[in-house]
Amino acid sequence: MKTRIIGTGSCLPETIVTNDDLSKIMDTSDEWISSRTGIKERRLVKEETTAGMSVQAARMAMENAGISPQEIDLIIVGTITGDYLTPSTACEIQAAIGAKNAVAFDINAACSGFMFALHTADAYFKAGIYKTALVLGAETLSKIMDWNDRSTCVLFGDGAGAVVARADETGLLAYEQGSDGMKGKVLACRDRRNNNPLVQESKEPEYVHMDGQEVYKFAVTTVPASIRKVLDEAGLKAEEIDYFILHQANIRIIQSVAKRLKVAEDRFPISLDHCGNISAASVPILLDEMNRKGLLKQGMKIVLSGFGGGLTWGSAVLEW
Ligand code: ACO
Repeated sequence: MKTRIIGTGSCLPETIVTNDDLSKIMDTSDEWISSRTGIKERRLVKEETTAGMSVQAARMAMENAGISPQEIDLIIVGTITGDYLTPSTACEIQAAIGAKNAVAFDINAACSGFMFALHTADAYFKAGIYKTALVLGAETLSKIMDWNDRSTCVLFGDGAGAVVARADETGLLAYEQGSDGMKGKVLACRDRRNNNPLVQESKEPEYVHMDGQEVYKFAVTTVPASIRKVLDEAGLKAEEIDYFILHQANIRIIQSVAKRLKVAEDRFPISLDHCGNISAASVPILLDEMNRKGLLKQGMKIVLSGFGGGLTWGSAVLEW
């Protein structure tokens, strides 16, 4: 039994913030940001929430798949920026769409969150436990950014992407994932500190902290190795893959992966120019953009790959 993606959806906040807009409120420039990252603009929330964007993306994906909420028996969301610690974003989606028959939970694997969620759905399908899943990546990263730290806040955006996955004869051909907790602190965001009658450590919120160069080195070595592994497992060569849909962190990471795999860059579609880095949401949003443009045809072979905080990574080969 394999995992087939039968519908996609996505939702971005309304407000566009360009690099020039940022240069008016902090010491940065379009030249610095776009030459180092490829990012030109991102969307940031005003009234939107992680669950609200997720619900819109989920509804689009269900409509695209032609299924009703009652058919969904599993909802998994990759996110590190839900609106509540509990209920989970997945439970909020369940309530909003009326997916009464589903079990719902979130996964915290940062930028690999959607890939880990997809693989979890695949494991449930293979075990024969569930048949139809809503799998999402959704983030409101702007709320965990230090807007006084120009080296991180310019990189990220907000949004949600969703797919409907169903147990089928074809779909996910191969998958591999990994974690390296030993390097966890190169990309970190501390949650609340101890706070009880015995100790009150701090009431100040804490924000994302990143060693950009360490993350870059991790990504350009781990991602090509992970993609080679899934290609080997699927018995495919890089030249047989139609598209490589990678986590949209940075254009230079994507160019380096293309070079290491000896694949033309035009097979690596891009959304980071208009979305920035939306962590777990970036792979499903890009997949939905391509699906809606009619670029994904039945039988195509597609590689998906996510990588980031934890550190974590996950890659898959799919037949569309
Ligand atoms: N605007 C202008 N100048 C800036 C900015 C900014 N927004 N941010 C940093 N600078 C300055 C620094 O202060 C520094 O100045 P100095 O030389 O006077 O000290 C200079 O630019 C160079 O800073 P570096 O941090 O060394 O910049 P670097 O060339 O390494 O580029 C970047 C930073 C783009 C983050 C790079 O390290 C990178 O591509 N890392 C990959 C990590 C990544 O993409 N992470 C995304 C999140 S993680 C994930 O999704 C997997």
